[in-house]
Amino acid sequence: MIRARIAGLGAYAPTRVLTNHELEQRLGTSDEWITQRTGIRERRIADASEATSDLALPAARQALERAGATPAEVELIVVGTSTADMVFPSTANFVQHKLGAGHAGSVDVSAACSGSVYSLSVGAQYIETGKYRTVLVIGAETYSRLVDWDDLRTCVLFGDGAGAAVLRPAADGSGILDTDLYSDGQYADLLYVPGGRSRHPATRESVAQRLQFLKMPKGDEVFKVAVRTLAEASLAILEKNGFGPDTVDLFVPHQANIRIIEAVAKRLHLPMGKVVVNVDRYGNTAAASVYVALAEAWSEGRVRPGDLVLLATFGGGFTWGTALVRWS
Ligand code: ACO
Repeated sequence: MIRARIAGLGAYAPTRVLTNHELEQRLGTSDEWITQRTGIRERRIADASEATSDLALPAARQALERAGATPAEVELIVVGTSTADMVFPSTANFVQHKLGAGHAGSVDVSAACSGSVYSLSVGAQYIETGKYRTVLVIGAETYSRLVDWDDLRTCVLFGDGAGAAVLRPAADGSGILDTDLYSDGQYADLLYVPGGRSRHPATRESVAQRLQFLKMPKGDEVFKVAVRTLAEASLAILEKNGFGPDTVDLFVPHQANIRIIEAVAKRLHLPMGKVVVNVDRYGNTAAASVYVALAEAWSEGRVRPGDLVLLATFGGGFTWGTALVRWS
């Protein structure tokens, strides 16, 4: 069987840093509340001139450069995002053009915060079947445009950013060993954006009701399901592939909340030294989160050839997913 390997990684964060202290003044929240409940200290905010594809582009270029690949070699671009530039064309379509990626296929994957593992899994299938030899997978988001800046329960949690990976066939038994994708639509009303599409098209009324913004009526419920599903799915993919949690060299979980990350690590009996955490600096960047965290870990020399790397993500829907990678 052909396996896909991650041949190059890239990340991009907008330059504007929004700290908790700035939010204290604007919203009446407190740095202490946000830090203690979430671990977030600051997040990045895209410039008004930057759409999601503009964040994706530098991340994609960096991943290609590190993989030693040219845009012309890319055969398929898969972008995980729930903050697309437009309803259509897809964000991937804009990336294809800006990158100069020939006539590569391009498609967006909408799985909320799980868009990272979902896009990785979709892209990997095309390598595994032998259909393509160079696939660019990206997670890119501008949640600063999706949150309600008058809702202090949600706006403090998110940030903007992008991460990318180039997938190519693995020469040996290494690479992406397995991916698992899950969803459970019964939880749709715990985390969603109701307005702007077919259910509630944009009208003066829907905008006045702020339906175009993210809703999370029960954050504590989201928290509990996230911890349970992330831990169960992580254990399931390890067991299926004949590994115990103790064999994991690096765990890269979705960066939503340090308390979720710590609770999952505890259930997996993983020391925090094996867990990648950057939620303090970026907040929750949804589909970009796992890519950005993995790219940073790689840049810092925390991923070495032969390492077993576990990726896990969770988001609105609910959706969740895992990927197991033998680093090459
Ligand atoms: N600043 C100050 N006070 C706040 C803030 C804020 N930013 N947000 C909420 N509060 C207040 C509430 O109004 C409430 O006050 P009340 O008791 O007077 O009504 C109080 O703090 C407690 O609110 P809770 O919602 O009960 O606080 P909780 O401990 O559950 O923490 C949080 C809230 C951080 C949202 C937590 O539930 C959480 O992280 N859930 C996971 C949600 C998440 O990460 N979603 C992202 C997408 S899904 C994912 O990526 C995993």
